[in-house]
Amino acid sequence: MKLNITVLPGDGIGPEVTEQAIKVLEAIAAEFDHKLRFNYGLMGAEAIDATGVPLPKETLSLCKSSDAILFGAIGTPKYDNDPSAKVRPEQGLLELRKSLGLFANIRPVVAYEYLLDKSPLKRDNIQGTDISIYRELTGGIYFGEKKLSEDGNTASDLCEYSRKEIERIAHLAFKAAQTRKKKVTLVDKANVLESSRLWRKVVTELGEKYEDVALEFLFVDNAAMQLILNPKQFDVILTENMFGDIISDEASVIGGSIGLLASASIGNKYALFEPIHGSYPQAKNKNIANPIASILSAAMLLDHFGLTTEANLIRKAVEKSLELGITTPDLNSSNIEVTTSNVGDFIEDFIANPEDSNMNFNNIHMGQSTII
Ligand code: IPM
Ligand code: MG
Repeated sequence: MKLNITVLPGDGIGPEVTEQAIKVLEAIAAEFDHKLRFNYGLMGAEAIDATGVPLPKETLSLCKSSDAILFGAIGTPKYDNDPSAKVRPEQGLLELRKSLGLFANIRPVVAYEYLLDKSPLKRDNIQGTDISIYRELTGGIYFGEKKLSEDGNTASDLCEYSRKEIERIAHLAFKAAQTRKKKVTLVDKANVLESSRLWRKVVTELGEKYEDVALEFLFVDNAAMQLILNPKQFDVILTENMFGDIISDEASVIGGSIGLLASASIGNKYALFEPIHGSYPQAKNKNIANPIASILSAAMLLDHFGLTTEANLIRKAVEKSLELGITTPDLNSSNIEVTTSNVGDFIEDFIANPEDSNMNFNNIHMGQSTII
């Protein structure tokens, strides 16, 4: 298969984790004889510094002319700590999601067997967790009218949803549940918010068409608690934009690190693949950030084009790295130093030689180097 992929490394650790994902995709291309072409674009704080805007026109047209987009991370403390900044890196990502119509953000959350003891949650509670979060991505409070009074003392953000916006993502969530454990949990705040009541009404109506899928409802505050108390009760979680943002970070605690969570942002025409983590500016250029979320986002990209065998090989390589403890410091409590690029090298090697992977810790060959 031939694919043109636009790469937007972005800010902070974005470039270094994306580099590992590209390495892995190139290994897949070599093994399976695919032609992957990578074109790089500017976005975020990097783009503001170079062009004055977070999403330059050239980047948007590059994205529109490619088959898929791989995105790294966005944001820097310079803007986080300046509430009066008129131009912000995050606007670039939001504008990109909106311009490309990427209305569904799919975030898988699994408890990996080898990491059960890395989570602050109890092993028995999390073992076997397998959740797919369907977060609406182009509506709600993120995109509603924003106001700031002239005296600067009153501000508001409007949360608005239309039936159409709810239906299109709900369909995807129900369809996903049909291939999984056949349960959708709608997370909302229907006891308080009018927009949530519309979500309940529309999703209930639509749910009748998916007779084989059980539909449940949870208020978001309760959902936040249930995710920690008993995550195994969930299969597909369907929710609006901001609740999805919040509960997916919370859910990452189940896996042991936010550095593991990948996502796919899908629309009718375009698709973008992005780790759920932020730009982790403290780790920038230190070669310590976990590249797995970016690598698993690349696997989701392959899934999107029906390259399931290839995607599964990446996931197998990732699991092997976790099994062998070849993990960055967020997951590695031992004093053996494993870097961002070591993890990428190992996964790249595994893809080329999966049989060679029964190595023990003393003779792991990672790229050209041997650790210890
Ligand atoms: C995410 C991020 C973004 C969001 C930020 C960077 C705008 O937190 O993808 O979860 O809030 O959607
Ligand atoms: Mg977020």
